[in-house]
Formats: sequence, structure tokens, C-alpha cells
Amino acid sequence: MAGSGGLEEVVAAETAISDIDGKLGKLWYVGYSIDDLADHATFEEVVYLLHNLRLPTQNELDDLTELMIADRESHDFVGGIMPTLAKQTSPMSMLRTSVSAASAYDPDGWDQSPEANYRKAIRLVSVIPTFIAAYDRTRQGQPIVDPNAKLPHAANFLYMLSGQEPEQRAAEIFDTLFILYADHTMNASTFTARVVASTLADMHSAITAAIAALKGPLHGGANELSMRMLQEIGSADRVEPYLSDLFGRKEKVMGFGHRVYRHVDDPRATILRGMAKELAEASDEPQWFDIAQEVEQVVFEQKGLRPNVDFYAGSVLYYLGLPIDLFTPMFAAARAAGWTAHVREQYADNRLIRPESEYIGPRDQVYVPIDERDEESAAS
Ligand code: CMC
Repeated sequence: MAGSGGLEEVVAAETAISDIDGKLGKLWYVGYSIDDLADHATFEEVVYLLHNLRLPTQNELDDLTELMIADRESHDFVGGIMPTLAKQTSPMSMLRTSVSAASAYDPDGWDQSPEANYRKAIRLVSVIPTFIAAYDRTRQGQPIVDPNAKLPHAANFLYMLSGQEPEQRAAEIFDTLFILYADHTMNASTFTARVVASTLADMHSAITAAIAALKGPLHGGANELSMRMLQEIGSADRVEPYLSDLFGRKEKVMGFGHRVYRHVDDPRATILRGMAKELAEASDEPQWFDIAQEVEQVVFEQKGLRPNVDFYAGSVLYYLGLPIDLFTPMFAAARAAGWTAHVREQYADNRLIRPESEYIGPRDQVYVPIDERDEESAAS
């Protein structure tokens, strides 16, 4: 099919991992609705679900949890380059580099067996928060906080960032955010990971590429930019002029619009709105939620667009105390669960992903040697 801009509606792979109904505004992981999982599951259970295509028994969950705790430790090699990364690179560039560097000392080396790839997948999901926290502590000149084996994955992430055990409700909300971000069918970064995997390149290469794809503002970068927009707006009465100005310049409002959920709410945004409200009410900075609600209303009135996952995730992460430039790395930390599951699914039934392009350039050109080439012949 020619001219399918942005591959819209093109089916690039079969998957049993997640599914979206863009008309109904529904998202499922392995057939379980995201609302059900957000209400009842933990991130560790979701990691198991995405990788094994069924929920775990208690023993299976305990085994995975134990493995994930053991895999939180980062190798000295990555620790050694972290001071340079903390000084010289943005958080997403650090993460891309650290994941790539982690391949150098992965205990499974270049073993591409399904068993080794499962271990590499869990290792990456487990260690990414350690990289992000080490980066943040190092750039602030604070000592690195070792992982706390008593805390679940998401709570431990907050602990390694601040050095304080998070309050229970904050840890639950962060865990839910991890669940909401864990997978989302054939989004740009997952597609990237699958394309790399389809060449039979290794797991670390696929996840490094996925992080690179997530970095951009049209994808994962939007959660950070949506919070920065709320700060720029500053108060609810400034929303209308700010957005009119933005739309006048034909710029996009970050955290709004979606390729799949065109005319319904992104189900993740609905859950995140509720969590942002709860956190705002308990905070001494409730204004960010008020401004966000006003933005939602004005954008809908003027453009008919609804918030996507990144809009209220920005407010939730801000209220949880994360530095704004760590919002997108946090997205990567959660999405690593889905990326790695998709890479394993791709390996399991692989065919090189190699689409066509439609040539629109000139044909039948005649080569003119460079010493005979003038502007006219070069342009013809
Ligand atoms: N602000 C203003 N106008 C918009 C926006 C927006 N956020 N999103 C879409 N539009 C307009 C767009 O300009 C176009 O208008 P027109 O037909 O007049 O040219 C129309 O709506 C259709 O948009 P599109 O660009 O064809 O939609 P797309 O499916 O190619 O892009 C999108 C989807 C998410 C990239 C886009 O909505 C966008 O850039 N949103 C802002 C960035 C963002 O929030 N990204 C996060 C996406 S969801 C989570 C994730 O993947 O990270």
C-alpha cells in the first residue's frame, strides 16, 4: 500500500501481548483490561503477564520478584561511566548509553537462546531505575543509594532517588503508573525494538534503539513537556490566552491527541487524571491540577483533542516529587517491560521487518562527469 503516512492503520506484527480498541477507548494486556490491572495488579505481576502471557501463581511471582531484586544491581562498568554521563548528557541520553554499555558485561554475553534473552529482559527491566537514580544522585553531588531489597520495584525506584522510603499511597500510585506505561501495542518505540530484533540483533541493541525512539517529544518526551507547559502557563486564568497563542503559531499542545484514540479518552489518561486529583488535594500546590483541567477543557473546546497518557502522568510524577527531566526516563523504565516482551515475541517467530518505499524522485537521469557539470546540468 503506497502513501500510508506514518504507517497509520498498517498492521506491522501479530502480537498476543496487548491490544487497543481505539473506538471504545479500551486497552488490554493479554486480554486483561488496563482498569482491572491498574486496580488490582502490581507491576511485578504485569511484568510476568507480559512475558509469560498469563498471570503468575504466588510461587511464580515470588521467584520473579526475587530475580528482579537480584538484578537491580548495576555493573561497576556502568557505575564507572556515570559521573561523565551525569555531567555531560541529558537523562535520556544517559539511559540510552547505559543500556547499551550494560551489554558489555551482561552475564549472558552474546548468548541469544530464549532462556538467555528472558534473563536479559528481566535484568534490563530491573536495572533501569538503578541507572536513572544513580544519574540523578550523581549530578546533584549526593551519594548513590543502593537498592532496597525489601521494597517492590516501583517503591524502590522512589527510594533510590530520594534516599527515603516512600509513603504507602505514593508507592501504590507510582506502581500503578508503571502498570499504565508498561505496554501499548505497536507504538513507535516498540516498533523500533521489533525492527531491530527482526534483524536478529541482540536484546540490548533493541532496547537501546527503543529508548532512542521514545526520547522525542511526539512520543515519550511529551510527559515532561506537558508539565513544563503547566509551569509556563502559571495560573488557570492564563490558559486561554496561552493556548490561543500556541495554536496561532500552529504548535502542538503536548500530552494531547493520539494516533489510535482519536475520538475517545485514552483509558490511561482517565486513571491518571484521578490520581493527579488525589495527589493535588493532598498537596500544597493544588494549582497544577486546576491548570491541567482548564487546559483539558480549552483544548477540547478549541481543537476537539483529548489528553493522552502523558498529560496527567506529568502532573502525577510532579506531585510524587520526581525531577521533571526524569519523567521520560521513568516512562522508559516502565515500558522496558513491554519492549523486552515484544523483542522476545519477535525472536520467537521472526521474519525480517523490511517494508517497501514508494519512489517519488526523478528517473532516467544521465550521469555527467564532475568536470563537465555546470549548475544547469547538475540540477537537471
Ligand atoms: N496539538 C495541536 N494539534 C494537534 C495535536 C496537538 N497535540 N495533535 C494532533 N493535532 C492536530 C494535527 O495538527 C492535525 O491537524 P490538521 O489535520 O489540521 O493538520 C490533526 O490534529 C491530526 O493530527 P496528526 O498529527 O495527524 O495525528 P498523528 O496521529 O500523526 O499524531 C500525535 C499523533 C500523538 C503524534 C499527535 O497528536 C501529537 O503530536 N501530540 C502531541 C505530542 C504528544 O502528546 N505525544 C504523546 C503521544 S501518546 C503517548 C506516547 O506515545 O508517548
